[in-house]
Amino acid sequence: MSHGLSRGLTNYGDRDFALYLRRSFARSMGYSAAALARPIVGIADSGSGFNNCHRHFPELLDAVRRGVLSAGGLPIDFPTISLGEVFLEPTSMLYRNLMSMDVEEMIRAQPMDAVVLVGGCDKTVPAQLMGAASAGVPAVQLVAGPMMAGHHHGERLGACTDCRRFWAKYRAGQISKDEIEGIEGNLATTAGTCAVMGTASTMACIAETLGMALPGTAAIPAVHADRLRAAEATGETAVTLARNRLTPDRILTAAAFENAVRVLLAIGGSTNAIIHLTAVAGRLGVPIDLAAVNRLSDETPVLVDLKPSGQHYMEDFFAAGGLGAVLRELRDRLHLDCLTVTGETLGARLDSDDAWVDRAVIRSAREPFQAVGGLVALFGSLAPGGAILKRSAADARLFEGEARAVVFDSLEDLAARIDDPALDVTPADFLVLKNAGPKGAPGMPEAGYLPIPTKLSRAGVTDMVRISDARMSGTAFGTIVLHVTPEAAAGGPLGAVRTGDRIRLSVKNRRLDVLVEPSELARRAAGARPVTAPPRGYRRLYAEHVLQADQGCDFDFLRADGRR
Ligand code: FES
Repeated sequence: MSHGLSRGLTNYGDRDFALYLRRSFARSMGYSAAALARPIVGIADSGSGFNNCHRHFPELLDAVRRGVLSAGGLPIDFPTISLGEVFLEPTSMLYRNLMSMDVEEMIRAQPMDAVVLVGGCDKTVPAQLMGAASAGVPAVQLVAGPMMAGHHHGERLGACTDCRRFWAKYRAGQISKDEIEGIEGNLATTAGTCAVMGTASTMACIAETLGMALPGTAAIPAVHADRLRAAEATGETAVTLARNRLTPDRILTAAAFENAVRVLLAIGGSTNAIIHLTAVAGRLGVPIDLAAVNRLSDETPVLVDLKPSGQHYMEDFFAAGGLGAVLRELRDRLHLDCLTVTGETLGARLDSDDAWVDRAVIRSAREPFQAVGGLVALFGSLAPGGAILKRSAADARLFEGEARAVVFDSLEDLAARIDDPALDVTPADFLVLKNAGPKGAPGMPEAGYLPIPTKLSRAGVTDMVRISDARMSGTAFGTIVLHVTPEAAAGGPLGAVRTGDRIRLSVKNRRLDVLVEPSELARRAAGARPVTAPPRGYRRLYAEHVLQADQGCDFDFLRADGRR
C-alpha cells in the first residue's frame, strides 16, 4: 500500500513521473529526502481571523508539529474553512456541510498517512468528524479547549449563557445601557470556545467519548499548559495511527455512538449535538433513532452541574475531573470494548484513569444533579418526525399544558412584531416560529430561543413555551421546543399552524400536538406558497440536498448510502 508522498498521485498518465515531480516540488520547500520518507501527518487547521475561539491555534499547531516530529513523522499543515460562530451570516450551520466537504476532500486529495483535526468552535468539530469519517484516513481530533470565565462586579461571567442572561435583564429594563456595555468586554476574555456546556464543549466531550480525541483532553482550558501538552501528545498519536492504519470506521461504531448519546444526556449537553451526532453517524451508515434517545434519556441522569443547566463553568469541570469522571460514573452503562485513537479500548482507558472527582461539580449516579437525561424527543401531530426539548435547562412547571399559539411566520415577522406593544400575547400562550428550519431560513439558525415579548419581560415573565423548526444555541436555556420535523418549509404541519390554534405539550407523554383537524391542516397546506430555491451557488446546492434534523441536516449525497 502506498504511503507518504506516493499516496493519491496526480494523474498525468505516468505514475513514476507524477511521484518524481511531487518529490521535486516538495524538496523546493526545503525538506530533505529523509524527512519526506517519514509518515506524513496532515494537520487540518481551522484557524481564522474571523474566529476568536481559535486565536491560539498558531501555538497549538506548533505543539502538534513538535509531537509529530518527536514520534518520527513529518507534519504538514493545511488550511480549511473556519466557522466562527458569531461572524457568519445567516448562520454557521449553513456552512457546516461545506466545511465537512472541504475537510473530506482535502484529506483524501493530499498525500497524508494520518490527519490531526484541529477545531473547536461549534460547527468545526462536527464538520471535521464528518469529513474524516467519510475520507477514511486515520484521524485524531484536537479541540481548542474552553475559555476561562470573566468577571463583572464580583460575579463570574461565561460566554454565552451569561450573554443571554444579562441581555434579557437589559431588555426587561433591569440594567442600564452603560452596564450592558461594560459587561460586553468581560463575557469572552480569553482564547477558546464558550465557557459553558454549549455546543463546542458538548462536541469536545463527544469527540473524546467516541474515542476520536485523546483521553482527558476535552475540557482542558484553551490557555492551560496542559492544552499544549495535549496537542503534542495528539501529534505523537497521529504518527502511531499512520503506522497502524487505525481508520475512523473502526472507532466510530454503533456502540461508540450509543456511548456518545449517553454522555450527551449525562452532561446536559447541547441540543445541537444530537443533530451533529446524527450527521457523523450517518456518514458511516449508523442510524440515530430519537425514540432510542428517549429510552437512554430515561435511564441516564444528568451528572454535571454546569451552565446552562446548572451553575459552574468548563474550567470548574476540568478541575473537578473532567469527562473521565463522568465516564467512570457511567461505566456500567457504556460499551467498554469500543476502540479509541490510542488503540486501547474505552474500558482499558477507564481502568487507568485518575480517580479524582469533585462532587460539587460532577455528581455520582446515585445522587445526580438531575434524575433523568438532559434531552427529550417529542412526537405528535405537530412533529411527526420529532422535536427536541432540553429539559435540563427548562422550567418543569411548563412541561404539561395546552395553550393558544401566537405564530410568527418567519424570522423577519418575529423581529417586526415581537416587541410591538399591541401584540396580542399573554404569558400562558405558546410562541411559535416557523420557516426557520434547514430549508426555510435557510440553514436552521439558532433562532429557537425566541425573546420574551418586551411587554411581558418588563412585567417579570422570564420563561414561556416556545416552539419552532429552528435550533438553539447550546448556551441558551428556557422551555424551548426545537427542531420540529418536518420543518414548515418542507411541508410539515408546523407550516399550517395559525395564531389562535391550540397546541398541547406533554413532556411526560413525549407529545407535541396541534389540536386542529387533519383535514383543515391539509386544506391550509394546499394553499401555501412553495419556497423559492436560491438561483445559484452553494445556497442552491444546500436547498436542494439538505436533509431534515432527524437525519442530521447533512446532504443526501454525503451520507454513507448517498441517498435519502
Ligand atoms: Fe465559538 Fe461559542 S462562539 S464556541
